[in-house]
Amino acid sequence: MSASDRLFAQPLAEIAGFRFDQRVAAVFPDMIRRSVPGYETIVAMTATLAERYAQPGTRCYDLGCSLGASTLALRSGLGGRDCTIVAADNAPAMIDRCREMLAADRSSAPIELHCADIRSLAIDKASLVVLNFTLQFVPPAERGALIRRIRAGLVPGGVLVLSEKIAFADAALDQLMTDLSEDRPALAGRVGAKTFFTELHALTNQGYFADPIYGGNKGYAGWHMVGFPGAFGYFTDTVDAHNRPYRQPPMGIGHQPGTSDFNWER
Ligand SMILES: C[S@@+](CC[C@H](N)C(=O)[O-])C[C@H]1O[C@@H](n2cnc3c(N)ncnc32)[C@H](O)[C@@H]1O
Repeated sequence: MSASDRLFAQPLAEIAGFRFDQRVAAVFPDMIRRSVPGYETIVAMTATLAERYAQPGTRCYDLGCSLGASTLALRSGLGGRDCTIVAADNAPAMIDRCREMLAADRSSAPIELHCADIRSLAIDKASLVVLNFTLQFVPPAERGALIRRIRAGLVPGGVLVLSEKIAFADAALDQLMTDLSEDRPALAGRVGAKTFFTELHALTNQGYFADPIYGGNKGYAGWHMVGFPGAFGYFTDTVDAHNRPYRQPPMGIGHQPGTSDFNWER
């Protein structure tokens, strides 16, 4: 467990630029959890995405890995697949601590840890590249070039996972989100942040993973993402086909029998 982050609790006489130094490394898990609403969910989703998209014989990259939270999520999602994880950060204090965190992990997928600037790191044979809250630290004028290099380093079917904090164009909505994330009473003082975000999280999951007849999960995107074949009721065409992998695209409750071809792996 990391120390509590009190680095900016007191007024400072002089404001220096933010640095990922030893003081930050010592409190980083607490700092990022409090400054990024939903951080734990995003790290957990990184494991789910690795499970789905990491391809054997390729590399998975965690760019701006800090203490390795997303790196470890990637590793857990690989489930023994033959992939190498490349984790990079240009802050020596973060890399030192990351090395300790990775050493304490039991699973065996190989991890190459680099103290390096991601703007010049070679990206090659990548099936999954994770940029969790790192792009914001790359100067705006250099972001396009980095994204293009990542694109060039992806294998067919490879994906980039990009997570960032965003600002809303609507100032009132932006203020509401800020109030909620800072746990100020919001929504006319009646609903606090915890209640709001718990509900938002549940509704987002439902929107992503419920049957499309309820209005979300457009084109079965959520089901495709996790490999769920759907909950339709017509198995008569398939019930006798034993010992063959089921490769049917997702179909929901509203699916009309006979409107989709079966795709058996032969
Ligand atoms: C907010 S943290 C990222 C959190 C981390 N991805 C996670 O999931 O916990 C940003 C990290 O990016 C690193 N960073 C910023 N600019 C970088 C660059 N040009 N090259 C490599 N690392 C960089 C910082 O040192 C810092 O550790």
